Amino acid sequence: MNLVVIGTQWGDEGKGKIVDLLSEYADYVVRYQGGHNAGHTIVIGEKTIVLHLIPTGLLQKGKKGVIGNGVVINPKALLEEIDTLNGQGISVEGRLFISASAHLIMPYHQKIDLESEKTKGLRKIGTTGRGIGPAYADKMSRTGIRVCDLYDQDLFREKLETNLCEINTILPKIYNLAPLDLEEIYQEFLGYAEKIKPYVLDTALLLNQAIDAGKQLLFEGAQGTHLDVDHGTYPYVTSSNSGAGGASTGTGVGPTRFDEVLGVTKAYTTRVGSGPFPTELTDEVGVFLRKQGNEFGATTGRPRRCGWFDALQVRHTVRINHMTALALTKLDVLDGIPQISICVGYEVDGKTLTEMPCSLRSLEQAKPVLKHFAGWEESTNGITSYDKLPQNAKRYVEAISELVGCRIDMISTSSKRGETIVNRIAFPT
Ligand code: IMP
Repeated sequence: MNLVVIGTQWGDEGKGKIVDLLSEYADYVVRYQGGHNAGHTIVIGEKTIVLHLIPTGLLQKGKKGVIGNGVVINPKALLEEIDTLNGQGISVEGRLFISASAHLIMPYHQKIDLESEKTKGLRKIGTTGRGIGPAYADKMSRTGIRVCDLYDQDLFREKLETNLCEINTILPKIYNLAPLDLEEIYQEFLGYAEKIKPYVLDTALLLNQAIDAGKQLLFEGAQGTHLDVDHGTYPYVTSSNSGAGGASTGTGVGPTRFDEVLGVTKAYTTRVGSGPFPTELTDEVGVFLRKQGNEFGATTGRPRRCGWFDALQVRHTVRINHMTALALTKLDVLDGIPQISICVGYEVDGKTLTEMPCSLRSLEQAKPVLKHFAGWEESTNGITSYDKLPQNAKRYVEAISELVGCRIDMISTSSKRGETIVNRIAFPT
């Protein structure tokens, strides 16, 4: 049984907790896209752990974690994360595997990410500033440096030299920055190469052999489908395929080997960075959601924009990922709001749309058509049985399932591992 877990909105849906919970049933947890722009927060007992690059499943004893070829790796950030986990008594020795074909985030990628944002003015994307976009751009223009290239020192130097030739023209001329030193980067990365060597291998081979041997795999998406470079609110997206499709290209596991796709959905909507957000609330309800939901970025600490649940958005996600189930998170954040709304249409140019448009202009102009639901006074925090939910909370949850056309397998009612209503676990138990 192989399961893909994805975000259904603009990221930060609470995938970390759901993946952590499901990892108990998986042998391997696999990251397939993105990089250290992701922030997966997991609360275990009194400890809060934020992972950016290392698969969440590694927090569970004995589980194996894979960083697939579709991920872009900043080796410094990776080694720091390994050190942090060691400090918490969690060793990844013999349990972490890194694809030799994954591309590296080089120091110039981060510089260009930060500088090019400055030149975009009002059209800036609001990236995490980690160099993600430029690293994927190099991959696509076939100038990227892969993990395996580090172990062919002549090739690595040659590639770095060629890339720096262009970068060192751009940095001073366009961004007024000092050129980068070849020798410094070369030596720095050879140092990383030595340190990460024990983890590097052909992960496509590893994963396919694991499936052949009947192991269970969980593919952990980062960000959300509406940040997917193909299916998201382009250009306000990340530079990878965060939807379920990325799980195949980003790991070398063929599409017919995946069994289910679970989409994690927040009971309302948030977004970090710029871009259209039709249900955004800039009033006191938005402020309430940010405060109650602790909606601040796990990677950058930026306040998240908050708004009502958007059924058009999640229905689109259900469709393009052919999702089999939903995990609804943060239901408890809505406790005490007298009236809760769900967006069921967009008004654009006097017309009502019932599906998400692809045009940026239409999305920017869209006024949400809202369906209202009575809220509930009672606390749902920590509830683990569906029967115990207030009647109005049940009505709200059922409306979401109906409007997006997908069954709900889990409802999370707090950040703690155990505080979840579980109707069904995709993995055989
Ligand atoms: P980048 O991935 O750093 O290039 O940023 C592109 C867009 O994706 C920005 O709007 C970021 O805020 C957003 N983004 C990237 N990673 C995450 C994440 O893990 N959660 C939420 N938003 C993200």
